[in-house]
Amino acid sequence: MISRHADLAALSRAVADELAVIVPSAIKARGVAHLVLSGGSTPKRLFEELAQRGRGALPWDQIVLWFGDERTVPADHPDSNYRMAREALIQPLGLTRVHPIDGGAADPAAAAAAYEQQIYAELGELPTFDVVFLGLGPDGHTASLFPGTPALSVTDRICVANPVDSPVTKGKTTRITMTARVINAARHIRFLIAGADKAPTLAAVLEGPRQPAHLPAQLIRELECTWYVDTAAASQLTKI
Ligand code: 6PG
Repeated sequence: MISRHADLAALSRAVADELAVIVPSAIKARGVAHLVLSGGSTPKRLFEELAQRGRGALPWDQIVLWFGDERTVPADHPDSNYRMAREALIQPLGLTRVHPIDGGAADPAAAAAAYEQQIYAELGELPTFDVVFLGLGPDGHTASLFPGTPALSVTDRICVANPVDSPVTKGKTTRITMTARVINAARHIRFLIAGADKAPTLAAVLEGPRQPAHLPAQLIRELECTWYVDTAAASQLTKI
């Protein structure tokens, strides 16, 4: 489903409003809501919106925060997804039920395996997150599932270290990322996409030929997926 909004601020408010429905329902059913945060810059406005609404707006004591991917940098590095979430949401609301990925680990593969064990320990053998938030890169990547990278074809893991060599990452690096397998197992998948620079990629992902090796966002199953987009990002959509 596509959910169109005038701009990033309106999109972020709408997502926060939907969380006010999904989260209490998850807690009523299972006593806890497990949310997977995405990285990059787009979700920062959502995090700020949630912080502005205050701790009483959601049952934060029953919410557990995870990360869909992380750069291989320390937690206080400007590129760290955890740092952005900590500054915009976690610290302002004093949240404690948070599982950062150890981006600063000397061995990213070991850090990915350790994160995997944390997920299995909290969610059981068939991890089903309540909400997985995702972004979309200009090359069609989502989380750190980049075009042509090994993680795209991994089906027996839920979190891996993924070697990437892309202009988007300014050359060679390793990212730690959840795999499509665990993302697609989520009860609700929510893409947040804003800005005219995303318009051609969004149109290719949603309306172009299916080529997930080149557009990894196409690995994400349509069912239970909502694409929150602003007018600029949706400007090249013709069929929906
Ligand atoms: C990351 C994200 C990545 C991001 C897209 C969009 O670690 O960078 O997980 O998948 O969502 O690159 O990034 P922007 O929101 O900055 O455009």
